[in-house]
Amino acid sequence: MKITVLGSGAWGTALAQLLADNNHEVTLWGHNPAKAETMQRSRENPLLPQRKLHERLVVTADISCVETAEMVVFATPSFAVRSTAVLAAPYIKAGSVLVTVSKGIEKKTHRRMSEIIAEETGNRFPVVALSGPSHAEEVVMGQPTGCVAACVNKDAAEKVQDAFMNTLFRVYSSPDIVGVEICGALKNVVALCCGICDGMGYEDNTKALLMTRSMTEMARLGEALGGKPQTFAGLAGMGDLIVTCTSMHSRNRRAGIHIGGGKTAQEAMDAVGAVVEGYYAAESAWSLANDMGIEMPICSAVYAVLYEGADSRKMVMELMQREKKEESSWI
Ligand SMILES: NC(=O)c1ccc[n+]([C@@H]2O[C@H](COP(=O)([O-])OP(=O)(O)OC[C@H]3O[C@@H](n4cnc5c(N)ncnc54)[C@H](O)[C@@H]3O)[C@@H](O)[C@H]2O)c1
Repeated sequence: MKITVLGSGAWGTALAQLLADNNHEVTLWGHNPAKAETMQRSRENPLLPQRKLHERLVVTADISCVETAEMVVFATPSFAVRSTAVLAAPYIKAGSVLVTVSKGIEKKTHRRMSEIIAEETGNRFPVVALSGPSHAEEVVMGQPTGCVAACVNKDAAEKVQDAFMNTLFRVYSSPDIVGVEICGALKNVVALCCGICDGMGYEDNTKALLMTRSMTEMARLGEALGGKPQTFAGLAGMGDLIVTCTSMHSRNRRAGIHIGGGKTAQEAMDAVGAVVEGYYAAESAWSLANDMGIEMPICSAVYAVLYEGADSRKMVMELMQREKKEESSWI
């Protein structure tokens, strides 16, 4: 199949490599012409020095490369998904399946990535969200990995499942695109929070408490938006939460560690030097939860630290001193 991957960062490159390994004809589009040209010539992405580019993988900055694709994968940071969809839309051919692997919720509109892509392409194509515990650095090295392809259109989800799946990359299908995308966006906020706690010197008990109670918050918001409970216990939910909150591959966690160690949010992002999706997702999730009247105390605490300069240690104490609650209902 002819497939174009839009976004030549770590994840776009790792997936383009995987798809080329699966014998698809793959083009990788990057928005920066000089960088695309260097990648095409040097046959490497400096973000993933572990592996040379597949010999049949073509890198370009010419968006008309979408013209021949039967599948188009959006792999830019979430803030660039709308502008990339606007650029690509005129070239996408009838019958194509679109895929989003970007994780976030748009600021102000609170749109999920699949909604943005559908909107900017005139609702003419099925849009599938592919998500799960999958660091680019490990996928590119062929470490066994699992993800979920979610779409209300079963044929489209299965087409994506078939295109990406191989003996080292297992893909499950799901109709719950709402749950899958909400999990993907919110787990980055939790990873930032876990990093902040790491940076303050808190250890395993604190992390387990945070991850578990955050999962309750994620499910509360996701289910209110129409997501299914089992998605939150699945690969895109608990799976991605575990991988993001516990690994040093996670930029969100690394940014959090800097903040917990005393840096401001901006200084932490500068130190990480790459897109920290959790920073943007924290604001979107906080305002979405407020609009919907959903209680998300951990997300609110992260928002206060990132956007209002609140003291991390004081926020932890505030969370610990909230009124007593039941974990399971008594009735
Ligand atoms: N890295 C991973 O392991 C991983 C895994 C799963 C999902 N994701 C998600 O994939 C998305 C991309 O992440 P990444 O790790 O590849 O990021 P990255 O920082 O490695 O790369 C981002 C790329 O986007 C490009 N870019 C920046 N501004 C742009 C614009 N305005 N238009 C088009 N392109 C632009 C940059 O040049 C860069 O090539 C994020 O939403 C992330 O959450 C990443």
